[in-house]
Amino acid sequence: MDLVHDLLVLLHILGMAAIVGSAVFVARGRVTPALLWGARAQVVTGILLAGLVSAGDDPVDTTKLGVKLVVAVAVTACVEIANGGRRRGKGERARLVTAAGVLAVLNTAVAVLW
Ligand code: HEM
Repeated sequence: MDLVHDLLVLLHILGMAAIVGSAVFVARGRVTPALLWGARAQVVTGILLAGLVSAGDDPVDTTKLGVKLVVAVAVTACVEIANGGRRRGKGERARLVTAAGVLAVLNTAVAVLW
């Protein structure tokens, strides 16, 4: 179970890197596959990690996890709406991509500083 947990944490951190790297540092304002799949991966790996951590003996901060879930869903919504607009030829919706990057940085701060 430790290996599963550690692999999930690895995927979770790579997902964060994909979102922040793409939206904040590399492809500002543009939807990329890294951004799209990173956002989806964060919700999935985050929920799996929350389940694993809750099944352990240590106390879990459910408020923190709830905040992270809400922020992660907002990140995914921004990216999916921006991607939908791009596919229908309605432009890049750069502000939504920027919002997704900023929210992912916020969730990283929540993960590390809370
Ligand atoms: C954009 C979305 C997210 C980002 C950027 C993000 C970022 C991070 C980072 C950087 C860590 C490592 C922190 C550390 O080890 O000190 C972490 C850990 C964690 N995250 Fe997330 N996260 C996101 C979404 C979520 C969601 C939706 C959940 C579940 C509700 C979640 C649950 C967790 C848990 C349980 C850990 C601790 C893993 C452990 O050390 O056992 N995360 N997150």
